[in-house]
Amino acid sequence: MRRSTNAERSHVPVLLAETLEGLRVERDGTYLDGTYGRGGHARAVLAKLGPHGRLLVMDRDPDAIADAERELGADSRVAIRHAAFAGLADWEETAGGLDGVLFDLGVSSPQLDEPARGFSFQADGPLDMRMDPTRGTSAADWLAGAGEAEIADVLWRLGEERMSRRIARAIVAAGGTAPLTTTRQLADLVAKTIGHRERNKHPATRTFQALRIHVNDELGQLEQGLEAATLRLKSGGRLAVISFHSLEDRVVKQFIRGEEAPRVRRGLPQPDVAPSPLVAVGKAIFASDAETAANPRARSAVLRVAEKRA
Ligand SMILES: C[S@@+](CC[C@H](N)C(=O)[O-])C[C@H]1O[C@@H](n2cnc3c(N)ncnc32)[C@H](O)[C@@H]1O
Repeated sequence: MRRSTNAERSHVPVLLAETLEGLRVERDGTYLDGTYGRGGHARAVLAKLGPHGRLLVMDRDPDAIADAERELGADSRVAIRHAAFAGLADWEETAGGLDGVLFDLGVSSPQLDEPARGFSFQADGPLDMRMDPTRGTSAADWLAGAGEAEIADVLWRLGEERMSRRIARAIVAAGGTAPLTTTRQLADLVAKTIGHRERNKHPATRTFQALRIHVNDELGQLEQGLEAATLRLKSGGRLAVISFHSLEDRVVKQFIRGEEAPRVRRGLPQPDVAPSPLVAVGKAIFASDAETAANPRARSAVLRVAEKRA
């Protein structure tokens, strides 16, 4: 069996102890990790399972799945699937019900660190950003086909970028000469267009975040994944979700509360909304000072845990 390299392995799991506590792992239970990454959480769950326990792991990234096969493929308690977690209920392994589901959202360190994946404005690479490069549309292709208003809307909604219109105009203008194909071209264009406004933050940070969320339909995936997980959780089963920005955390919080129905204006009669099948377990959990000092990724992490009602 080939040993994995340090670069392939280097992802430090965030809020690990808190996540395990939230999932309340039982020896004979069945657990699903929808975001395997490099398996930090998955291996910790597996370590708590007895011989009759079961761990199902998913990731939409083929590199993550290759790592799962290498690391856990020989363990008969583990099943591995290359797929987005939105479709977890279609996996027959989940049909018997789940005692716990984990989503540790966003990108992994190996995805960010590998220039060829196109996620990072700090290294030059193809402007791709797909977690699953075997399907979908790369960031470069999307930018080449999208209109100025569409690009501005994505940057504003998903990156909370105040200069969204100006950046969108520059992207479309640059595309008229030669389409943007690399991360460096986009990062330089954004920096030239809006200048360095925030200390310790590259001007293209928000643009890259917005494009990544859009290209991977991360919020749509999250909504569908939460629905599917809730469907498959057994009564008393636990859901644990780690978010890395407020857009994700809002979706998770509202889903747990059962607030996903459109809000009506104050003063008008409220529509009948079925009570949420989930109940929140405690409040949002943030990383300790010690963890954020050791792992800067943990700074923006928020863990929410919920339990499926009887
Ligand atoms: C933050 S990392 C997870 C790290 C992991 N918990 C660990 O300790 O190594 C997020 C992973 O989730 C995957 N991912 C993100 N959204 C996904 C989705 N909708 N479906 C499946 N995998 C997804 C990414 O490809 C990435 O590998």
